[in-house]
Amino acid sequence: MLKNSMLRMGLLAALMAALISPVQAVSKADADKALKAAHDTYKGLKEGKNADYIPALAKVNSNFFGIGLVTVDGQVSTVGDVDQLFSIQSISKVFTMAQVMQESGVDVVLNGVGVDATGQVFNSIVAVEQFRGKEMNALVNPGAIATTSLVKGKTADEVWAKILGMHSDCAGRPLEVNAEVYKSESDTNQRNQAIGMLMYAYGLIKDNPAQATDLYTRQCSINVNAKDLAMMAATLANGGKNPVTKKQVIDQKHVAKILAVMATAGLYDDSGKWLFLTGLPAKSGVGGGIIAVSPGKFGIAAFSPPLDAAGNSVRAQKAITMISEKLDGNPLNPKAK
Ligand code: DON
Repeated sequence: MLKNSMLRMGLLAALMAALISPVQAVSKADADKALKAAHDTYKGLKEGKNADYIPALAKVNSNFFGIGLVTVDGQVSTVGDVDQLFSIQSISKVFTMAQVMQESGVDVVLNGVGVDATGQVFNSIVAVEQFRGKEMNALVNPGAIATTSLVKGKTADEVWAKILGMHSDCAGRPLEVNAEVYKSESDTNQRNQAIGMLMYAYGLIKDNPAQATDLYTRQCSINVNAKDLAMMAATLANGGKNPVTKKQVIDQKHVAKILAVMATAGLYDDSGKWLFLTGLPAKSGVGGGIIAVSPGKFGIAAFSPPLDAAGNSVRAQKAITMISEKLDGNPLNPKAK
């Protein structure tokens, strides 16, 4: 009798403990260990080359290597050059797309920009010509410039405040523009100006293509570090709610759509290969950053400037792949019961 009631009390206590303690997606010790192992393994890797079509990017130290991981319950792990600021570049396309979904709904992105991979490089004019500006996605330059043009506002400043606000809320701190990169890209972005004008000619940008291209250039120049990017990825992993500030930045219902576009087109021509190897929705930038999202578990980011032929950071891809494998991050990997 006594034994039975003690057993029942024990079971009740275990049940209470399970209900009270938050589900630990990934332990801090495991995350720290995985980050350190990946950093140690790949810090000596000398493959790839900095982007140089934006002159300011060619000058960044190729040895920088930082990794951040934030779990959905707000645990932060970092290793390497995590305080080093760099320009977000194409990773910004994810968050401007989120801003448009947030204020105008997902159909504007689905029908007004497209959600299909182009099978072409990120700044392809052939891709625009193929369907007269349609059948794009928000993560390649033509679709991204069109997406920026969809952010509502009476003035450029009003639009910019929303774009920067979305990025900052996801990072959990006020972000700023890297003035040197913005100037360098503004001086050399004639191809993007042409793409903006072409999208205007085909009616995918309704008004003021020069403003859209300029604001797009500015968003690509936002300064972040690897920890900021990990927090932004973790906000997506956590259903649109920043896991540290607890602000619901993006409506939960939009997150699956954002992740779907990242899975399809986040690493450009190598998106299929990346998904095959990791299963993670991700996005790269020519500044050397990559974010990846393990839904319901963690957001991860790595920064290392040298890129491969597809324009994706070599070390960042390898580090994220290794860490995610160690932490069981692949969402396309169901376990048999
Ligand atoms: O428009 C551009 O070319 C750059 N601001 C961004 C390109 C980019 O990051 C592509 N990433 N892999």
